[in-house]
Amino acid sequence: MRRAPSPPDLDRLSFVGVTTGQSAATRLFPAWAKELGLHDVELVGHDLPIHAKREQYRDLVERIKSDEHERGALITTHKIDLFEACRDMFDRIDESALLFGETSCLSKCDGILSARATDLVSAGKSLDEFLSRDHFEKTGAEVLCLGAGGSAIAITVHLLGRAARIIVVNRSQGRLDAMRAIHARVNPGAEVVYIRNVDPLMNDALMGKLPAGSLVINATGMGKDTPG
Ligand SMILES: NC(=O)c1ccc[n+]([C@@H]2O[C@H](COP(=O)([O-])OP(=O)(O)OC[C@H]3O[C@@H](n4cnc5c(N)ncnc54)[C@H](OP(=O)(O)O)[C@@H]3O)[C@@H](O)[C@H]2O)c1
Repeated sequence: MRRAPSPPDLDRLSFVGVTTGQSAATRLFPAWAKELGLHDVELVGHDLPIHAKREQYRDLVERIKSDEHERGALITTHKIDLFEACRDMFDRIDESALLFGETSCLSKCDGILSARATDLVSAGKSLDEFLSRDHFEKTGAEVLCLGAGGSAIAITVHLLGRAARIIVVNRSQGRLDAMRAIHARVNPGAEVVYIRNVDPLMNDALMGKLPAGSLVINATGMGKDTPG
């Protein structure tokens, strides 16, 4: 694990990822800190391998919990693993973290360590920026979501019950089943079709049948993390 040197009396916000130094969050942090009025707080990257050992997560969270200069943490790739490893160490867990079984944000206030899952909020805010709240109601449009991982769950939960129908395509059945279980808890009556598929031609056919104004989401990481 990489831990950048830091003056001992400076408050710190931990950034838990795989290659945090290359992340946009590292570059954007000074602007966020200024906007939020955070003074004398620095972002400290903690690079852990994917599916790190349970003890690595617990050591890190214990340090965040007990060190008075640690203000909290932003968590990317390790959202699920860290949550599972450290669940008993959090004083508060928000509804989204319990629902999704993950945490992307740890915060400390008056010695209380809270775990939150913020993807639902950020996905919702991003979508609402360019899609009016009544878009689906007005147009009868549908949603085609490629991928059923963390971001796809956050986006589809936000749209659940708003679009006439949501079609989700994913490579593995396990991810589709996990997503279906979450959807069932949030809105059991919403119409969602879950399709296991990797054939791009089938995706083309599904897209060709969508009504005008439909939303197509690439939540696979293809074109960014992998070629596609
Ligand atoms: N999580 C967030 O809130 C968030 C926020 C901003 C940006 N992003 C970006 O969004 C992308 C996805 O993130 P994520 O957290 O959702 O990742 P993830 O949990 O790994 O989910 C990706 C999903 O896409 C599926 N998939 C990959 N290739 C596929 C293909 N060819 N056909 C069908 N399904 C395919 C995977 O299937 P299997 O694993 O089942 O094989 C997996 O379920 C990443 O580039 C990430 O950086 C995510």
